[in-house]
Amino acid sequence: MTKILITGSNGQLGSAIRDLAADYPQFSFTGIDIHDLDLTNEIGVRQFLNQHAFSWIINCAAFTAVDLAESQPEKAYAVNSGVPRLLGKICIENNTRLIHISTDYVYNGKQWTPHTEDESTAPVSVYAKSKAEGEMVLRDNPMALIIRTSWLYYKTGNNFLRTMIRLSTEKKEIGVVTDQTGTPTYAADLADAVLKIIDFSENNGFVPGIYNYSNEGVCSWYDFAIEIMQHTGSNCRVNPIRTPEYPLPAHRPEYSVLEKKKIKTAFGLAIPYWRNSLLKAMQEITLKK
Ligand SMILES: NC(=O)c1ccc[n+]([C@@H]2O[C@H](COP(=O)([O-])OP(=O)(O)OC[C@H]3O[C@@H](n4cnc5c(N)ncnc54)[C@H](OP(=O)(O)O)[C@@H]3O)[C@@H](O)[C@H]2O)c1
Repeated sequence: MTKILITGSNGQLGSAIRDLAADYPQFSFTGIDIHDLDLTNEIGVRQFLNQHAFSWIINCAAFTAVDLAESQPEKAYAVNSGVPRLLGKICIENNTRLIHISTDYVYNGKQWTPHTEDESTAPVSVYAKSKAEGEMVLRDNPMALIIRTSWLYYKTGNNFLRTMIRLSTEKKEIGVVTDQTGTPTYAADLADAVLKIIDFSENNGFVPGIYNYSNEGVCSWYDFAIEIMQHTGSNCRVNPIRTPEYPLPAHRPEYSVLEKKKIKTAFGLAIPYWRNSLLKAMQEITLKK
């Protein structure tokens, strides 16, 4: 059986992968999060990984508080760059394959065509720079496959979907930005793609490198909010606003749509359209209640 370690297993993507475990009986999963092992503790990480012979590590652990990273850069870099650097080294030593998750924020978002994997990156915020460094330290690692994703949400965790659902009952009207364009990604879809990539690689060989993954389609945060509110049936009015009207500590890319031809071709993936996946996620949330 193929042994897989999920780091950050209580986060959005980590939880989504754990929730899919039954669909992949050929894999055995171990999940760890910060309360089990702080991944910035090199001695602890080495001890743990040398005790268990994992075939794969899926690194979902990250410092994802984009605005907080502006005032806590050391912490952001330790987790977003230090951890992949360490895992990458240990993976070479232990012959373990690593799937590391990165972000659309590595692009500066000034270009209005979908971003390809080989175009140059220009991260702006501390979070974005720390994630870009996390890619750099793995770029030439033959054991590492990096997946950039965007606007991740799940039925649990801190995300835009859950915030909008909460606001739909708390507020009569809200303002949401129309001048940032990207694609939402349902964590369950990304989780399934990651596990399909592992399955594919086990059978056909491993191809390291950088791959983009989000749901299909394009929208602004405003469009995303409208779609959510319509499904909730709420009367909360969503007003279109511009980014300067909702100032935040960290810069956000204006346009971060990802080109996904590479991942679809390499692994034969069919990627769901964002509206269809949003509906599924909202049905899951209703069922959970
Ligand atoms: N969320 C998005 O919109 C988005 C967009 C693009 C890319 N991504 C990337 O996608 C990946 C998954 O994101 P996500 O939204 O699932 O993240 P998440 O929900 O924030 O989960 C990350 C997990 O990592 C844990 N963690 C943080 N520091 C750690 C440490 N030192 N040792 C061990 N575990 C640690 C966190 O614990 P605590 O919660 O206790 O800190 C959390 O459980 C990340 O690489 C992220 O950068 C996310």
